[in-house]
Amino acid sequence: GITRDEEIYDYLFKVVMIGDSGVGKSNLLMRYTKGDFNIESKTTIGVEFATKTVTTQDKKVVKAQIWDTAGQERGAVGALLVYDVTSAQSFKHVADWLKELKQYADNNIVILLVGNKTDLRDRREVKKEDAAAYADQHQLAFIETSALDCSNVDLAFDRIINEIY
Ligand code: GTP
Ligand code: MG
Repeated sequence: GITRDEEIYDYLFKVVMIGDSGVGKSNLLMRYTKGDFNIESKTTIGVEFATKTVTTQDKKVVKAQIWDTAGQERGAVGALLVYDVTSAQSFKHVADWLKELKQYADNNIVILLVGNKTDLRDRREVKKEDAAAYADQHQLAFIETSALDCSNVDLAFDRIINEIY
């Protein structure tokens, strides 16, 4: 492996999180990397990233460097395109985010469409089957998550890392 920052790993993957403001990108990342959630989190200003090291089934060590901002698509091998299941608007904008990826990211970037905030059951505006159909149509992987109640958060990040790998 490559030694840097006193850490040994076999692969370094750059992953970006994109999607409308307020969909929960920062909280998903915080939940995944720190096991934490912030109900009053402020909008992300500037460029932030977090890292997490995971071991694949065949014992390779992958260091994921996950960027919490749009504008960091260059060089990324994966993208989590997040919308809020309680906001039809944020789902409608997924098309715009895909355009942005087409323009600035690598052609073979792996994209995972993430419908976040499933805990808000009575406020849902985007049906799971509609999002799944959209993902199918555009050759995206798809998952629904809740950064608040933890559901599928680890699975989402693990899935994109394994799809890249
Ligand atoms: P920007 O930094 O502005 O782009 O927003 P963001 O996508 O990073 O959203 P952020 O993580 O800051 O979350 C926005 C708000 O939604 C905060 O009040 C969070 O507490 C809340 N939130 C995030 N994820 C969830 C979730 O899964 N469920 C619920 N109920 N609220 C969530
Ligand atoms: Mg944020």
